[in-house]
Amino acid sequence: MSTNSIRKIVKQDFELNTNAVQKINKILEISNHDSRNLIPILQDLQDEFNYLPEKIISHIAKELNVSEHHIYGVATFYSQFKFIKPGKHIIRVCMGTACHVLGAQSLLDKLSRDLKIDSGETTEDELFSLESVYCLGCCALAPVMLIDDEVYGSMTAAKVNKILRKYRKVDKPKQTKSGTGKK
Ligand code: FES
Repeated sequence: MSTNSIRKIVKQDFELNTNAVQKINKILEISNHDSRNLIPILQDLQDEFNYLPEKIISHIAKELNVSEHHIYGVATFYSQFKFIKPGKHIIRVCMGTACHVLGAQSLLDKLSRDLKIDSGETTEDELFSLESVYCLGCCALAPVMLIDDEVYGSMTAAKVNKILRKYRKVDKPKQTKSGTGKK
């Protein structure tokens, strides 16, 4: 993906407030403000903020005295880095060999149809992000799906609706007296 296309899809709703700047600067300090440590810096930033908003990239470009273009060039080389705010729940479907032979693809297809997104995307209501990953390390439970930190083993497409309903129910907007949904 080119730097320009990333810029177009990056959401602009991240607020670079004092708290965020403090966290970013702490991460930069740990890496001695050294641009040679760019990858670990980006990893720490993503761990902290769940993704790499454009405002963070601009900030660290100034702090590290490198161009934003350089940072995007490095970051886009690695699929681990995300530039779009992920959904509240991240669904990871294992596509490793053990899971694949036991039907992981039809599980992923079912999730993709139900959520109306492809792997790597986030639902419009920002509730779910869908990802395919390779071996979650619990092959005996294949096929495996992970939602946030919860492991779902021996998964079938038929189990998907019930599981998604559980998350939707918990995150359902509260109804006000006027009936307007309010988070
Ligand atoms: S292959 Fe899916 S958990 Fe190992």
